[in-house]
Amino acid sequence: MNEQVDKAQILVASNRGPVSFSIGADGSLGHRRGGGGLVSGLSSAAEGTDTLWVCAALSDADRKAAAESGDGRIDRVADLGGMRVTMLDIPQDVFDNAYTGIANSTLWFVQHMLYDTPNAPDFGAGFRTRWADYRAYNAAFAEALLTGSDEGAKVAVQDYHLALLPRMLRGRRPDLRIAHFSHTPWAPPEYFRLLPADIRRELLEGMLGADHLGFLSPRWADAFLRCCAEFLRATVDPVRRTVEYGGRIIGVEVHALGADADGLRERAAAGDVAERAAALRERVGDRRLIVRVDRTELSKNIVRGLEAYRELLRSRPEWRGEVTHLAFAYPSRTDVPEYLAYTERVRRLAEEITEEFATPEWTPLVLEVNDDFPRSLAAYRMADVLLVNPIRDGMNLVAKEGPVLSERGCALVLSTEAGAADELGADALLVNPYDVVETAEALHTALSMPAEERSARCERLVEAATALPPARWFRRQLDALR
Ligand code: F6P
Repeated sequence: MNEQVDKAQILVASNRGPVSFSIGADGSLGHRRGGGGLVSGLSSAAEGTDTLWVCAALSDADRKAAAESGDGRIDRVADLGGMRVTMLDIPQDVFDNAYTGIANSTLWFVQHMLYDTPNAPDFGAGFRTRWADYRAYNAAFAEALLTGSDEGAKVAVQDYHLALLPRMLRGRRPDLRIAHFSHTPWAPPEYFRLLPADIRRELLEGMLGADHLGFLSPRWADAFLRCCAEFLRATVDPVRRTVEYGGRIIGVEVHALGADADGLRERAAAGDVAERAAALRERVGDRRLIVRVDRTELSKNIVRGLEAYRELLRSRPEWRGEVTHLAFAYPSRTDVPEYLAYTERVRRLAEEITEEFATPEWTPLVLEVNDDFPRSLAAYRMADVLLVNPIRDGMNLVAKEGPVLSERGCALVLSTEAGAADELGADALLVNPYDVVETAEALHTALSMPAEERSARCERLVEAATALPPARWFRRQLDALR
């Protein structure tokens, strides 16, 4: 055993990590702690414990910063105030096949049921090559975690990128206590069955290498249990949510991740957010605002959201000139061809809406496609209506974060197909995301809602949205490993 390596008691494994890069005044590349609930949640939950976070992906901004820095070299080890981070150096072709080829083009499509099934992949030789790299990517995480973990350490594995990892770890280190958490939906067996039989088995057995499996909604947990019963013939207890397989009993639980209210409020109080808010106000005047903030992502249903807004302006002409739709659709997974085509559809439809309704005095729609976090927070603060209409979503944190920051008490138009509808359904206006007319009517109802009703609903939304903040959400995964 290598005595030089510091062993951790708590380990986290995720594709994207908690570090972002920027170039210092001397031209060198430095890291800093990235944003997001998981990072702040983990930092407080892991306080006083030796923690190691293993990750792989660099964002486009990170790569750009690396290319533009002095020597272009990336230091792959960081210490974020007691939390150590290792960024794996996985060969680019292996990473691309695992991340783009399998995780985002296959597993994401299956769990979100995005395939246009007559045109679904044929799972031929190309798929098998990519699958081998997905295995190699999971194995690279396993090596780093095995080297970096203390006897009996707890490992919290995150998401579909790392479905094979729990079993790989258990096979070599039965002393480890392993949790896996899925941030996506889980497809029911009727859809999951489109994967080849051996791949279905490898995925399910890979996850069942964990002691504890977490999901964001009972819907996804129950679909997973049904897949285990159908494809592994595992003994499943749907009431206690356990799976008995290979001589072990694996617990399955729902941990509905909530918004990090304190972190968000602190960030939204910063000067850059106030600047963005002033710029937006200048642009839209005192009109009512319908806001959406998404990655440009097929599952987010941005096209139907824009169609619903167009339908609102057509069927309820009284809103013309009175309302503006701020639609922020940030670039995402641009290596996946379907995403590029979708981005183009969004752009074209936005142009059509502008052509149909804009007047010299009124901009009906502002579509922003460049990522600007402070501007998103400014829009949350200003929103009268927040539109969140995914065709399928593990949770959707926009639906939870928007109400927390809303200064006017926004109304929430929310898809029934987002995990967040479980907690927010009572006070949101729920819509079928495929039904453009119903969504347009919900926008009208939201805009017409008396101010007192809107703020009373919004208060209750905030309460529900913050019930399980990231630190407690993460703590519950670790506690389940006791
Ligand atoms: O919520 C699911 C998820 O895949 C996260 O794991 C991820 O950080 C986020 O969506 C954004 O996706 P990506 O990391 O591919 O940009």
